[in-house]
Amino acid sequence: TVPTLQLNTGALLPAIGLGTWKSSEDDTYNAVKSAIAAGYRHIDTAANYRNESAVGRAIRDSGIPREDLWITTKLVSTQHRNPKEGLEGSLKRLGLDYVDLYLIHWPVALKTDKLASGDLFSIPLLPNGRRDIDVEDWDFVKTWRLMQELPKTGKCRNIGVSNFSINNLKKILESGEKLTVPAVNQIEVHPQLPQTELIDFCKDHGIVVEAYSPLGSSDSAMLTHPVLVNLAKKYDAQPANVLINWGLSRGYCVLPKSINDMRIKSNFRQITLSDEDFQAVTHLIDELGAKRYVQPDWRPWPIFE
Ligand code: A2P
Repeated sequence: TVPTLQLNTGALLPAIGLGTWKSSEDDTYNAVKSAIAAGYRHIDTAANYRNESAVGRAIRDSGIPREDLWITTKLVSTQHRNPKEGLEGSLKRLGLDYVDLYLIHWPVALKTDKLASGDLFSIPLLPNGRRDIDVEDWDFVKTWRLMQELPKTGKCRNIGVSNFSINNLKKILESGEKLTVPAVNQIEVHPQLPQTELIDFCKDHGIVVEAYSPLGSSDSAMLTHPVLVNLAKKYDAQPANVLINWGLSRGYCVLPKSINDMRIKSNFRQITLSDEDFQAVTHLIDELGAKRYVQPDWRPWPIFE
């Protein structure tokens, strides 16, 4: 069975969840069904992924009672002014009465949805190397004040944030108005982006971290690295299992994405790295270098500040 992490609300979060970013509707339906059959009880989606209705269908067809599942979705960046409307739209697409966790997807409000899943690289690059994104003049602390009202409606059990930096979190924690502490911060984490300072900051403030792209996303340099391949052999496992255990050992939730039935099953298999092997994975960054796999061009976004 999967370990759980206790959130600052008391809720227990299953420490392995299925990621669904970049998965099409059909792939998502099959992946979520495979995952639930393999024992996953935690599915991570977002309005921006455009696959919530497939997640909902797969849940209904899984035969597993709703209360045994943990479902997370996220507020699209164009709806910062109305998270209640965002949540209700997601619930409608999911066909659910509530989600377990609702996150602000990015700490930035956008005027238009140019960032719809998959469209990123069609956004022109400006001469300053940044993408031409319509950022709105809106403070995410205002969004958080509105998010705070949502658990009272019964439509989401816990609220949190995603892609928040230490500075972003400080704006909420140090607002001087006793705002709810986010239950979760979902960020990119893997050996090439260990995020140690941010993770320590979250821990110190009772915020549970969720790692997306724990395998290095779709062009991972880690999965084929000889160190990982050899470690995997030693544990009679796959390189992905080594990365997943490395994350779990560091005390946060891991969200490996796959649309492949075999890999979904395989990723759920848990191994326990020795201290020495854990260190070897930590040192992968010395050979491969630091790398942010997700949206390196989004320079106007405060995740980098
Ligand atoms: P696929 O969906 O075809 O399995 P991340 O979780 O870091 O975003 O990584 C997801 C990427 O890693 C996807 O491209 C996914 O492809 C691939 N992947 C998922 N599980 C494994 C695995 N066990 N071995 C190799 N690649 C994997």
